[in-house]
Amino acid sequence: MNSDKTHPYPMQRFSVAPMLDWTDRHCRYFHRLLSGQTLLYTEMITTGAILFGKGDYLAYSQEEQPVALQLGGSDPQALAECARRAEALGYSEINLNAGCPSDRVQNGRFGACLMAEPELVADCVKAMKDAVSIPVTVKTRIGIDDSDSYEFLQRFITVVSEQGDCDNFTLHARKAWLSGLSPKENREIPPLDYPRVYQVKQEFPHLTIAINGGIKTLEQAKEHLQYVDGVMMGREAYQNPGILAQVDRELFGIEGDIRQASDVVEAMYPYIEQELSKGTYLGHITRHMLGLFQGIPGARQFRRHLSENAHKAGADVEVLRQALALVTGKDS
Ligand SMILES: Cc1cc2nc3c(=O)[nH]c(=O)nc-3n(C[C@H](O)[C@H](O)[C@H](O)COP(=O)(O)O)c2cc1C
Repeated sequence: MNSDKTHPYPMQRFSVAPMLDWTDRHCRYFHRLLSGQTLLYTEMITTGAILFGKGDYLAYSQEEQPVALQLGGSDPQALAECARRAEALGYSEINLNAGCPSDRVQNGRFGACLMAEPELVADCVKAMKDAVSIPVTVKTRIGIDDSDSYEFLQRFITVVSEQGDCDNFTLHARKAWLSGLSPKENREIPPLDYPRVYQVKQEFPHLTIAINGGIKTLEQAKEHLQYVDGVMMGREAYQNPGILAQVDRELFGIEGDIRQASDVVEAMYPYIEQELSKGTYLGHITRHMLGLFQGIPGARQFRRHLSENAHKAGADVEVLRQALALVTGKDS
């Protein structure tokens, strides 16, 4: 087993995946209350949005740390500039998206189609590494379309690690079809191939390799950690966030009380009040909390109360208090 002592980047041992529209800053704030150790990724943010957009796309709360920024783009200088800004703001890592198969992303010549251009990915990583001193990592698939042999993946990793000086990859253990499948189908239809990811770690033992795709329990995560350095969990962590409360103890060996879900809800109140005073809608925060009590009596009522009330005009923290009382059976 890879021991923490030799891990160059220990927090990557377990992470929550970048997920567009899901892992926004409110979601990350909530996840951080559940686990102090898990590495949290932003949604993919394009270099265009950061450099030319009107919103403050890099805004986050210090409480979310450690947070990795995932960038979408393929222009080395633009990526370097975004990485520089992110490092100045305190982000812990820059991750390049070379795995998203959506059409919109392909038109911008980034995401999974970058797997076909390892030299360009190397240039991108190199430019970012020259610009910052925080880790620069790449998230990709194990293949695209008919380029799904081990040799194809091996060449990608070789070029990006040698020419781009990239020493850290997260591999979603399925290939992507660049046309014909929706992004959602591309997360479900191509079969998972974990041994292929293990093979990469075996052949490139000096690289940090994290595995992603279809991992649903911490037992499964532990099993993978016998072969690779890190596990990234996406949909399960989002839909069943209570799982994160076990991570510090189960995967990082940190003794101490497991955070109770109801305490985490209460710990969200001050954050929510602060956000509401800035004009954020309650529902934009509580939507990430709907799955919190999965498997516990009252979970359905909690979910329903929030779904029905958090989007109403003027909804405030009281709605969440009422929802919590439906699970705990006490007025808080
Ligand atoms: C709603 C949603 C949005 C996603 N957005 C991104 C993204 O912005 N960047 C990215 O690299 N992957 C994205 N993904 C893919 C996940 O990061 C992850 O690779 C995938 O869901 C497989 O992991 P899982 O089986 O644990 O969910 C997204 C997945 C979902 C469900």
